[in-house]
Amino acid sequence: MRIVPLVERPDLAEQVSVWGFGEWGHLNPGQTLDLRRAEIQASMNVDRVPIVFVAVDDGKGDGEGIVGTASLVFDDLEGDPRNPWLASVFVPAEHRRKGIASALVRSVEDAARRIGYDRLYLFTSTAPTLYAGLGWRALEQRDYRGEIIQVMDKSL
Ligand SMILES: CC(C)(COP(=O)(O)OP(=O)(O)OC[C@H]1O[C@@H](n2cnc3c(N)ncnc32)[C@H](O)[C@@H]1OP(=O)(O)O)[C@@H](O)C(=O)NCCC(=O)NCCS
Repeated sequence: MRIVPLVERPDLAEQVSVWGFGEWGHLNPGQTLDLRRAEIQASMNVDRVPIVFVAVDDGKGDGEGIVGTASLVFDDLEGDPRNPWLASVFVPAEHRRKGIASALVRSVEDAARRIGYDRLYLFTSTAPTLYAGLGWRALEQRDYRGEIIQVMDKSL
């Protein structure tokens, strides 16, 4: 398994867009699959925010299947002045519990550090234990668009 910026595998952008819209479309009023596609297309960067990363399974031969994604974005929580954010961590069900999300999170942390940030934020309603295990600190909990979310940070 390798983790690369999406700009190196633009053929995987459609899958990233579909996963993101399916998983988080409801949290963003007015979001459509086309808007998600446009956001992903605007994240084809390496040395500046936003960056989408993809995890690619080398073992699959032709086509090299995508087995996960995660992003580094400037703003994620509307109205919140902190930045930047780790966002949109997704691993398809059949590839979970193999460390892929952990590797993606580390790649996003490395990119943020390389760009010059010394702190990174995230919010999650589903997986605080994943991030706590990777050294993230729990900050406040709050209601966000009908979900209870945990905000976390990590010093880089
Ligand atoms: C959450 C998610 C990204 C985890 O991906 P993953 O590749 O399975 O994660 P890892 O294998 O790196 O997990 C590392 C550790 O995190 C913890 N963990 C992972 N998923 C967890 C979950 N759903 N609930 C609780 N703990 C979890 C476990 O301790 C795990 O270690 P273990 O397998 O040795 O017990 C994946 O389940 C997913 O895409 N879910 C749907 C989207 C989502 O909720 N994304 C997070 C949004 S912030």
